[in-house]
Amino acid sequence: MKGENRVESNKSERTLFSIEDINSRVKELGGLISKDYKDNNLVVVSLLRGSFIFTADLVRKMTIPVEIDFMTTSSYGHDEISTGNVNIIHDIRSDIKDKDVLIVDDIMDSGYTMKRVVEYLKSKKPNSIKICVMLDKPSRRKVDLSPDYVGFTIPDVFIVGYGLNYGDYYRNIPHIFTFD
Ligand code: IMP
Ligand code: MG
Repeated sequence: MKGENRVESNKSERTLFSIEDINSRVKELGGLISKDYKDNNLVVVSLLRGSFIFTADLVRKMTIPVEIDFMTTSSYGHDEISTGNVNIIHDIRSDIKDKDVLIVDDIMDSGYTMKRVVEYLKSKKPNSIKICVMLDKPSRRKVDLSPDYVGFTIPDVFIVGYGLNYGDYYRNIPHIFTFD
């Protein structure tokens, strides 16, 4: 039904990162990654669906050759809260053997998703694997894993926009916000 899973209209939206904040940070990250990987065979593995917007922006700020591939994971339970049971429901198509993989996601929360993806991709014998997330919530971490590149570190608040959803909505909103 249209409008299902949207937050009730009595909640107010509070912007955490504006379009300008996001643009300038993504540009910095793209520059940094381009410098760090200038002598490598970089493959970006973007985790769907949450990272589609961040990935599209980030790779356009990179100034080195880059292969781009996508992977979809699912975790049992509610969409917004990951559990330890993370399944790979759509695999990458590229051969990453001996290449340098950068996994790109919207947010690292418990870290269960990322841990599963890192372990899975390792079995394909890449030369290296690093992690880039737009947002990091380190206070929520349940596994011993940290991202190598972070857009913004945030406290334990539920956020939407810039690819992040609540229910079926909000991914297309160009800034990052929370509900108060
Ligand atoms: P993790 O496996 O707990 O690290 O969670 C990763 C996934 O949970 C992200 O890719 C998002 O899809 C979702 N998620 C975690 N925190 C938020 C949030 O604040 N807003 C929207 N989705 C979130
Ligand atoms: Mg996600």
